[in-house]
Order: sequence, then C-alpha cells, then structure tokens
Amino acid sequence: MKKIGVLTSGGDAPGMNPAIRAVVRKAIYHGLSVVGIKRGYEGLLKRDFQQMDVSSVGDIVTRGGTKLLSARCPEFLKEEVQIQAADILKREEIEGLVVIGGDGSFRGALALQKQGIKVIGVPGTIDNDIAGTEMTIGFDTAVNTALEGISKLRDTATSHERLFLVEVMGRNCGAIALATGIAGGAEAILIPEIPIDYDNLVATINRGKERGKISSIIVVAEGVAEAVDLEQLLSERTESNARTVILGHLQRGGSPTVNDSILASRMGAAAVDFLRTGKSGVMTALRQGNIVDVPLVKCLEKENKIDQELYRLAEILAI
Ligand code: ADP
Ligand code: F6P
Repeated sequence: MKKIGVLTSGGDAPGMNPAIRAVVRKAIYHGLSVVGIKRGYEGLLKRDFQQMDVSSVGDIVTRGGTKLLSARCPEFLKEEVQIQAADILKREEIEGLVVIGGDGSFRGALALQKQGIKVIGVPGTIDNDIAGTEMTIGFDTAVNTALEGISKLRDTATSHERLFLVEVMGRNCGAIALATGIAGGAEAILIPEIPIDYDNLVATINRGKERGKISSIIVVAEGVAEAVDLEQLLSERTESNARTVILGHLQRGGSPTVNDSILASRMGAAAVDFLRTGKSGVMTALRQGNIVDVPLVKCLEKENKIDQELYRLAEILAI
C-alpha cells in the first residue's frame, strides 16, 4: 500500500484533530502518502482532496473540531453513489481509507469496502454509543464540558433554591447523561434506555427536600422526554421553582481532554498499522487498555448497552 486517505464524517467530536494528526504522521513515518478528504463523503464525491504533509497537521493536536471539516451526505446511502465514490478513490490510487466518525459513517465505510476499498473505522463521536469499544473519541471531553455546566448551575440553583433540568446530548444513548450525572452528583438521571418512573422521580426530589436539600439537578438525555414538559410536571408535583437548560452543541466543542487526545493518537496510529498489515472492515477499539481491531459489522449489528450497574450506583448515591 502506497497511498491512503483520511476523512471525518457525521457529528464532529473533540479529538478528531489529534486522530487526523496521528493518521498523517504515522503514515508518513512508514513512507505512505496521505490524502486528506474534506467534508466526509460529500468531499469525496466532489474530489475535495488535499495532500497531507507533516506540517499540514501542525498545531491542531490541542484543538477541538476537525481540520478536515465534517458533513452529512444523504446521497451516500445510494449504491450508485457509493460505486462512484469507490471509482474516484481507485482513480486517485487511494488504496485504503481511514474513516473517523460514528456508526453512520461506518456504514458508509462498509459500503466502500464492498466496492473494493480497504477501510478502517476510528470511533469519533461524543455519544459513546458504539458497541465493541469501551470508549469513543470525544466522549471524555463532552462529559467534562457538561460537568462544568452542571457545577455552575448547581451554584445558582442553590442560591435560588431551584430545581434544574439539564438536557445533555446523546441521540438514543444515555452514556453522556449517566457519566455527567454521577460525576455531578445529580439527584436523578433520565436516559432513553430506562423508562421514566415519574412517581419515583417525584418521591426522590421530595425526599431530598425533606432532609434539607435546597437545590436539585436532574440530568436528562435528549430524546427521553421534552425537558420543558418535565419542568412543568415537576414544578407542580414537587412544589419546586424549576428551570430548564439545554447544553446542546457546547458539548461538541472545546479542546480535547488529555484522555481524548491520547486515545485519538493511539487509534489514529493503529488505523495506519491495520491498513499496513492488510486489514480492512475493522474498527480501532479500546479494550482493557489495548487498541485492538474489531470487525465493523459486529459493532454495527450489536446493540450498545448502558452500564446498568453504574446507573444503579448513581441512584444509590443520590439518596
Ligand atoms: P455519525 O457517523 O456521527 O453516526 P451520521 O449517522 O449522520 O453520523 O452518518 C454520517 C454519514 O455517513 C451520512 O451523512 C452518510 O453520508 C453516511 N451514512 C450513514 N448511514 C449510511 C448507510 N447506511 N450507508 C451508507 N452511508 C451511510
Ligand atoms: O452524534 C452526536 C450528536 O451530538 C448527538 O448527540 C446529537 O443528537 C446530534 O449529534 C446532533 O447533531 P447535529 O445538530 O449536527 O445534527
């Protein structure tokens, strides 16, 4: 293999930049040529290519976002478009492609593999919703950002004796809510994987009030319920002065934490090694401290499970 490509796709995540840097520098170290593809699959179809040299990834390791830009490309779901994209890569003599993104991006990568391109997935999404890896790039940073938000809200919640509903990201996955809630000492955590028990929720808040708590924080994962509807319900049933805050895209920005930077650097470098040793259709996965290869099909067909024990612990600690 002489030439490889790298792209970032789907929702951006802090740590994508150190991952790109690692792919580029590790590849150059081994004598490979690297092409950066802008805006994910959209840029691939438009041949929006950039030759990457060592200095092209200088000064990005501590920066959030992605230097290669990211996009969603709905037309990539069509097989004829996937064939066209594979032809473009073949004409450019790009034999292997590193796709940094989430599960949607991995489905696109597998479609390219079907057309004869060697592909490696690097899990980059704040949601930590990909089966097969203990951690995705961006999750740690997003959780730390959300935690900072919760700590600030706790201050004002206490001053005004209020209840705050804090909505965090995570499409269909409660991982961000769970980690942030446990680290921030939330009174309750509502996630899509566990149906809301309204009576229990009300009882928890009221119990806290009876023992003298003057503020409450409830972390709500997006998708589980409309936080505004919950605000009204809880205001009435707990006689609280409630407010709702949606942290939103704040969680996708910011410099990657040390953990994310190191994870991204290791995964980016491993992706190049996997290509060099002839692997394809695999994801760089973190398992028990090691970066290993896991078949993309397995990651996509398996359901990503929430840590039930951690959820139970959060409930116990919030008594
Ligand atoms: P993420 O990678 O963060 O999960 P998306 O789900 O939006 O983000 O997917 C990113 C892009 O991957 C899509 O815009 C599309 O171009 C491509 N993609 C998603 N699903 C598929 C699929 N089933 N087949 C081919 N390409 C796909
Ligand atoms: O995949 C990460 C994520 O941040 C989800 O948690 C969220 O629902 C989604 O992306 C929103 O993405 P956008 O606003 O870019 O469509």
